[in-house]
Amino acid sequence: MTQSASRASAPSIPEGQSGAPRPAEASAGELRRALTGRYRAVRDETERRAAPLSAEDQMVQSMPDASPAKWHRAHTTWFFEQFVLGPHDPGYQPFHPDYAFLFNSYYVSAGPRHTRAERGLLTRPGAAEITAYRSHVDAAMIALLEQADDATLSTLAPLLEVGFNHEQQHQELLLTDILHAFAQNPLAPAYDPAWRAPTITSHGEDWAQLPEGIHSIGHHGDGFHFDNETPGHRALVGPVKIARHLVSNAEWLEFIADGGYRTATLWLMDGFATVQREGWEAPGHWRAVDGEWRIMTLGGLQPLEATAPVCHVSYYEADAFARWRGLHLPTEFEWEVAARAGVLDDAFGAVWQWTRSAYAPYPGYRAAPGALGEYNGKFMVNQLVLRGSSLATPQGHSRLSYRNFFYPQHRWQFTGLRLADYGA
Ligand SMILES: [Fe+2]
Repeated sequence: MTQSASRASAPSIPEGQSGAPRPAEASAGELRRALTGRYRAVRDETERRAAPLSAEDQMVQSMPDASPAKWHRAHTTWFFEQFVLGPHDPGYQPFHPDYAFLFNSYYVSAGPRHTRAERGLLTRPGAAEITAYRSHVDAAMIALLEQADDATLSTLAPLLEVGFNHEQQHQELLLTDILHAFAQNPLAPAYDPAWRAPTITSHGEDWAQLPEGIHSIGHHGDGFHFDNETPGHRALVGPVKIARHLVSNAEWLEFIADGGYRTATLWLMDGFATVQREGWEAPGHWRAVDGEWRIMTLGGLQPLEATAPVCHVSYYEADAFARWRGLHLPTEFEWEVAARAGVLDDAFGAVWQWTRSAYAPYPGYRAAPGALGEYNGKFMVNQLVLRGSSLATPQGHSRLSYRNFFYPQHRWQFTGLRLADYGA
């Protein structure tokens, strides 16, 4: 696989999503073609990302938070089996009676499931059997899309969009999880020897002023979005200056050289406890080799590029860095207003950007009834919001209103930051 598997460019992202036309706008034929084409494209992209991995690679689970590549391939398949084929294809025969148990992730409403931390213990089913599972479900899905009447197709379209976007989320996780696994290997294997860090458009300090104002936040309109991006609402934002640029490795080296990881007063209490417990001296995947820092990437162990955005930092580290600079992290609302105004460089396609906003429901949010209501809503506590997208985010999966979220100690994702200045 080449660099194209990971987004190398950082395009500005329009609010709308490419994808299937909405039922009201599309003829049944157009909708059928669009859904079928999108289904094949998403499923193919997963297999393209898994293609460089051997069966042994696909089995490893390097920590409880990460999942084996084989599991990602199977779980995304189970999603279509569980939520589309099961309820909507009366003739569907599951590929294997135990796969729902093995490959359900966290959907309590969908039944019992295998222990998350033990996914790496499954030598069986093997990678080839997962390929067969995917083919079985793909054949049934394509047949369903070709044979469904127009009304059924319109009913299925929103559900399918969730399935496509769900699989795209796992495409990113497939890369972050295998990178974490390879980073544990003294040989520092390259997932893709030709991989190179994304090109950054912005270097040096530059700030955008956001005057005080009431702004529209969240998703509005008809395009696909996750439920956590709604309800759209208004928020008071500013005055604040937000950095156009992402924090770079060069800036992070200054933080390290100034004793940032050893200065307790820069850190939240939980953050400094994590630093000490984990022995953190630098971002995740950094390695000191012959007195110089290198970073474990999808291309293997590479020299640290001073101008590249810092990556694999936790919220705790981002927060401490901001305090060291005498500045702050922006809120997710400030980020969104600035991104909509087009004043953020590299908002998409390099690193997810930590905000200081707790991952909380927007005013009036209610999770949908049923198992799919478990998708986002039940995670809305104790996590922080990240905005933008990363080099591993699939094409077409980014949005100005997109809310990613992780726990504050997590740093195996492609996570960085930009700063905010309140002039105080
Ligand atoms: Fe999932």
